[in-house]
Amino acid sequence: MKYNLLGKSGLAVSELCLGTMTFGNTTSETDSIEMINRFVEHGGNFLDTADVYVNGRSEEIAGKAIKDKRSDIVLATKVRMSTSGNINGVGLSRKHIMDGVEASLRRLQTDYIDLYQVHVWDHATPIEETLRTLDDLVSSGKVRYIGCSNFFAWQLMKSLAYSDANRYVRFVSIQPQYSLVSRQMDREMMSLCLEEKVGVIPWAPLGGGFLTGRYNRQMPEEGRLTSKVGESAWVNRASDENFAILDELLSVSEEAGKTPAQVALRWLLQREGITSPIFGASRLEQFEDNIGAIGWELPAELWSRLDEASALPDDYPNRFIHKFRRPFE
Ligand SMILES: NC(=O)c1ccc[n+]([C@@H]2O[C@H](COP(=O)([O-])OP(=O)(O)OC[C@H]3O[C@@H](n4cnc5c(N)ncnc54)[C@H](OP(=O)(O)O)[C@@H]3O)[C@@H](O)[C@H]2O)c1
Repeated sequence: MKYNLLGKSGLAVSELCLGTMTFGNTTSETDSIEMINRFVEHGGNFLDTADVYVNGRSEEIAGKAIKDKRSDIVLATKVRMSTSGNINGVGLSRKHIMDGVEASLRRLQTDYIDLYQVHVWDHATPIEETLRTLDDLVSSGKVRYIGCSNFFAWQLMKSLAYSDANRYVRFVSIQPQYSLVSRQMDREMMSLCLEEKVGVIPWAPLGGGFLTGRYNRQMPEEGRLTSKVGESAWVNRASDENFAILDELLSVSEEAGKTPAQVALRWLLQREGITSPIFGASRLEQFEDNIGAIGWELPAELWSRLDEASALPDDYPNRFIHKFRRPFE
């Protein structure tokens, strides 16, 4: 396992992060704890959870699994989504964040969170209120670093500028959806993160399972990703464009002698600006497949084939602005 520094910080995280969204749901508690142990044996130190995953069960299981090795782990969790029917039980207000951090610390059985992330932008709360609260949490020692997830580029840039102007801690990382079948962040977010040295920790690096080779165009209805709501639902994944990317992935995987999941992760691991893809696995066999993404290199020619097959169209404004780059070297 290799390690990367998270954004501008001095925090070293493993090149792969283990996602825990299925823990306590499709992954039993026993298998979840076993998965974390195996991940740590492989050198993994970076775990991602959220207050809302499986109504808090994911945090409880992660906390239990790492209790005896807390300082070896970089533990990331999130706040923002609705955690109660209470009118203030949602969002990025000072009240919800302060209540949220205490509830997460209790479930995680720890007195600090390494990386506390805002799950998605909150249109109702001024970002000034959120950033001041997060800065207070870092000063109090309950949180060590702060990150965000699911932001537009302007929202991240506004946050960074406000933190800098007020001498608050700034977001060290962003967690966007990013994979061979979801490259929208290439429009603006990726170049912003490189410019501002913000770590990128992509979620759904396997497209929620679409990029593992288990799905095809003929898949009968009941075998599809329809059980998944949100971004990885079949309706979002099963486009002609995505199946063309999948075809290229299957062909590259065969040439590389690796599984599609390993190659899909490898494409991310070898991509500039990516700190640590957050992969999920419902079962231990899937974990074993995915962890096989480390310890080897995808040859440049195969990497480029995947990169070209999945690239966004070269359209405005990127096409126009990039044309006027001034070389100084
Ligand atoms: N910030 C956010 O808004 C956000 C959103 C989503 C996720 N996340 C984080 O990102 C992590 C990963 O997200 P994700 O689970 O959507 O992403 P993913 O890694 O793209 O997909 C994981 C899913 O794909 C299937 N799978 C994984 N490995 C497989 C293999 N080798 N062979 C066959 N199928 C395989 C499993 O689905 P089945 O259950 O169908 O077998 C597994 O649950 C989460 O645990 C969470 O920590 C964050």
